[in-house]
Amino acid sequence: MADRSSEVRPSKEVVDRVRELRALVEYHDERYFVFDEPEVADAEFDALVRELRELEARHPSLVTADSPTQRPGGRPASTFAPVVHRMPMLSLDNAFSRDELLAWGTRIQRLITEPICFVAEPKLDGLAISLQYEDGRFTVGATRGDGVTGEDVTENLRTIKAVPQKLKGKAKDLPALLEVRGEIFMPLAAFEALNRRQGEAGERLFTNARNAAAGSLRQKDPSVTATRDLALYTYQLGAKEGGPRLRTHQETLAWLTALGFPVNPHIAPFDDLDAVFAFCEQTETNRHSLGYDIDGVVVKVDDLGQRAEMGTTSRAPRWAIAYKFPPEEKSTLLRDIMVSIGRTGRATPFAVLEPVFVGGANVGMATLHNEDDVARKDVRPGDTVIVRRAGDVIPEVVGPVLAKRPPKTKPWKFPKKCPECGQPLVRVEGEANHHCVNVDCPAQRVQRLVHWAGRGAMDIEGLGEERVRQFVEAGLLEDAADVYALTVDRLVPLERIGERSAQLLVDAIEASKRQPLWRVLVGHGINHVGPTAAQALARAFADLDAIMGASEEQLTAVDGVGPTIAQSIARWFSIDRNQRLVQRLHAAGVNLEGDRGPQREAVDASFAGLTFVLTGSLQHRTRDETADEIGARGGKVTSSVSKKTSYVVVGESPGSKFAKAEELGVTILDEQGFESLLESGQPTLNDQV
Ligand code: IVH
Repeated sequence: MADRSSEVRPSKEVVDRVRELRALVEYHDERYFVFDEPEVADAEFDALVRELRELEARHPSLVTADSPTQRPGGRPASTFAPVVHRMPMLSLDNAFSRDELLAWGTRIQRLITEPICFVAEPKLDGLAISLQYEDGRFTVGATRGDGVTGEDVTENLRTIKAVPQKLKGKAKDLPALLEVRGEIFMPLAAFEALNRRQGEAGERLFTNARNAAAGSLRQKDPSVTATRDLALYTYQLGAKEGGPRLRTHQETLAWLTALGFPVNPHIAPFDDLDAVFAFCEQTETNRHSLGYDIDGVVVKVDDLGQRAEMGTTSRAPRWAIAYKFPPEEKSTLLRDIMVSIGRTGRATPFAVLEPVFVGGANVGMATLHNEDDVARKDVRPGDTVIVRRAGDVIPEVVGPVLAKRPPKTKPWKFPKKCPECGQPLVRVEGEANHHCVNVDCPAQRVQRLVHWAGRGAMDIEGLGEERVRQFVEAGLLEDAADVYALTVDRLVPLERIGERSAQLLVDAIEASKRQPLWRVLVGHGINHVGPTAAQALARAFADLDAIMGASEEQLTAVDGVGPTIAQSIARWFSIDRNQRLVQRLHAAGVNLEGDRGPQREAVDASFAGLTFVLTGSLQHRTRDETADEIGARGGKVTSSVSKKTSYVVVGESPGSKFAKAEELGVTILDEQGFESLLESGQPTLNDQV
C-alpha cells in the first residue's frame, strides 16, 4: 500500500488533470477497442496513460479502483457474445528508452535471488486473441476485450488458415484443456491488396494494417473474414489442464510449434539486458523488412518459476515489458493544401502540416499526389490528419480524423488558377494531373533552369534551385541561354553573393559550355528524352542543327529512338521559341556538336553492378526516362524484386513490389532519394517532401 502520510497534497490543477486524463484514456480506449477507429496515434495514447500513471504515483490518494491504470485495457464491444477469460488477458508496461529497460531489470532482479534469463520478441501490432482447445479441438476463440471479458469470434477465427482446428500429436499427450494466446495481424502485402480492392469497390480504406486486421476479424459474417488473409503468431499460454510440464518460455514456444501453432521465428534468448537492448535496436532497424507491422519488442523472463515469483499487478505482469519504438504515425493539424508547379507545368497538391516529429524526422509537408488522391482521402484544411513516415518512405497523409473535423468544412477543391502566374490550371480528360498552361509561368521557368543546370544535364556547380530563383526574381534569367550571359559584375550586386562565389559560378558556367551534346539534349527537358536516347542521337547526328532538321523517320532510324521519342523531339524543335533558344546557345558558345563516336567515357559508371526495380509513377520523370538514367550510369532495371535487387524506386501508387521489397529488406527509395542517388551516388533520407 502506498504511504499516503508523506504525500504532498495534490493541487487543484493536479486533481483536475487526473480527472481529465482518466476521461481521455477511457474515451480513446473505446475508440480503439470498440469502434476500431482510433483518433490518436498509439504513442499519443501511451503518453496520456504515462502522465496519468506518473501523477497517480506521485499522489497515491488520487488512485481509484476504476482508474484506467488499474484495469488491463478497454471495454468489449457489444455485437459479439461475451466470453469471460479463464485467466485475465493482461496488458504490458512500456519502456521507451534503454534506461527504462534497465530500470525494469533492476526492479525485477530485486524480487528474486537467481540471475534472470530473458527472451525478446517482436511486439506485433495486431490484436490479441485467446484460442481454447478441448481434447485437441478448437472450441472457443475470443478477442481480448477489456482483458476480463472478450468477444466470441470463434467462427471468424475458424476461417483463418493459421489457426489450427485440431492440435498435432497423440491424443494421450494432448492436454484436456488448453488456452493459447497470440496476435492476429495482417501482413502488409495483404493490407495493401485489401485497400486496393476496397478503393476499387468504393469502400472505405483502412488507415493501417492493425485496423484492417481488427475490422476483418470482427466481421458479423465469417465469410468476409475468410477473404482477408489474416495471420497469427502465438506467444503465450492461458489455462492448461494436462500436457507436459513446461519450465521456460522457450520450452513453451517449442511445444506450441509442435502442436501446430505458428510462432514468430525472430525470437531470441539473452543473458543480460544490454544484449536485449542491442536486439531491440537491431529489430527497429529491420522492422520494415518483416512484412508486417510491429511497434516494439516484448522482453520476457524466460523461467516460468521466476515469473510466478514475480507475479503480476492487476494490469500487467511484472515479468515482461514492452520496449516501444518511436511512432511512425502521428496526428497533426493540416494547415493548408497548396499546389506546386513543376518543370513541365504539372501542378501537384501538397499538405502543409503543423510540423510533427514522426518516423525519426520532422515532417512539415507531405505530397497529396493529385486531385483524386485528395478526394479519396477527403482531407480538408483545418482537419486533424494522421501522418505516416515509415523508414525511407516519403511522408504521407493517411487520412483525416473525422471526429476532430471542425464544423462547416467543405471538401477541398483544386484551384482553377496557377498559384504562381494566375493562368488556368487544366486537367485533360483521362489524365490524373493538372497542368499550368503558361510556358512563361515563373515556377516552370525556375524548374526548367534547375533541370538545365542539374547533375544529369549541364552539371553547373553552384546553380541550384535557390540561386536560380534569386536570379529569375532579379530579372537576370529567363531561359537557359541567359545563363551564359551571367557575369561577375552582374552577380555581385545581388544579396548573399560575394566576388569569389560569383567568379566560381561564372567559371562553372563557362566550363559547362564544353559539355557533350547529349547533356544539352537532356537539359532541354524534352519529354521521353533521357540520357540513353540523347546519347544515341548525339552519336548519330553531326550536330544539334541536324537533329533539329531531321524528320520523324530519320529520328526513328536511330537505334534506341522509337516513334514516341521521335515525335516528341520533332514537336519540341518545331516550336519557334525553342529554335531561337538553340540559336542563342550556339551564339553563346555552347557545344552543339555531335560526338560521332562512343561517348561512353563521358558517362559515369556509378551504378555499375546495381540493379533497380521501379514501381509506381514518379513525378518528374517517366518510367522510360528513369530507366534511361539508370542505364546511362551502368545500372540495370529488372522487373521483379529479389534479394539481389539493390534499390526499389517507389513512386505514387506502388504495386506489390513495394511490399516485396520491404519483406526482403531491399533499400527503398522515394523520388528524392533516387534523385540524390543520381546526383551524388548516395541515397539520402529526406525529412520532407
Ligand atoms: S506477451 C501479459 N508477446 O501487446 C501479456 N504480447 O500491450 C503478455 N503483443 O495484449 C503478452 N506482441 O496483444 C506478448 N510478442 C508478444 C506480443 C504481445 C504483441 C500485444 C498483446 C498484448 C499487448 C500488450
